[in-house]
Amino acid sequence: MRSLSAAFFSWVQGARFYIDTHAEAVALVPSGEGKTWLDVGCGPGPVARLASRRGYRATGIDRSPKMIERAVRLARGESSCRFEIADLEGLASKYSADVVSAASLLFVVQEPEAALVQLWSCVRPGGNLLVVETTEKMAPRAALQTMTHIRPGRRLALLLWARARNGRSVAPSVYDRLAPASGSRTPLLDGLVSAWVFKKT
Ligand SMILES: C[S@@+](CC[C@H](N)C(=O)[O-])C[C@H]1O[C@@H](n2cnc3c(N)ncnc32)[C@H](O)[C@@H]1O
Repeated sequence: MRSLSAAFFSWVQGARFYIDTHAEAVALVPSGEGKTWLDVGCGPGPVARLASRRGYRATGIDRSPKMIERAVRLARGESSCRFEIADLEGLASKYSADVVSAASLLFVVQEPEAALVQLWSCVRPGGNLLVVETTEKMAPRAALQTMTHIRPGRRLALLLWARARNGRSVAPSVYDRLAPASGSRTPLLDGLVSAWVFKKT
């Protein structure tokens, strides 16, 4: 990710509505009690920080050194949160966790189905996979309606996020790749975002 895009995403990810939306997603899986959480494509680390506050030993990985630098800086003072530079490719040979998450990752990778399979193979039996992605609703028109519930200072962040996606999203059929596991889908942020949870038996 280029440094301008990195700065843009870090700004969007710092907005209260973004943190609150991801906190709702993280709360869809039971609290951690010392279990492990792996957040893949962690960016500046919002999900890993939220997971550590829910009692997980959280690791965030991202292939961008700049993102990891930001994540480490933002997580100062969080005791059970660490970050490493690593790529999704070949992930399952190096990592496994009770919960594996990916937020806004599938949309940016070239092969979302293959990425989903990699993520799933890192989930330990009995664990969960959490995927958070924008939906086809994430476009300026719907964002303008949602903006009315958001603090004025960060409304622009939502609008720019919506413009960047402009209704493009990961096809729901991608999740069929995990069959026979079936996920439950929870709409967040007025349906502009979806959180999928898949439980591994
Ligand atoms: C849109 S950002 C989302 C960041 C974060 N998950 C969030 O929601 O705030 C996507 C992130 O995925 C990372 N990424 C993209 N492809 C990757 C790959 N193959 N392996 C690891 N990280 C990757 C990018 O560097 C970027 O930080």
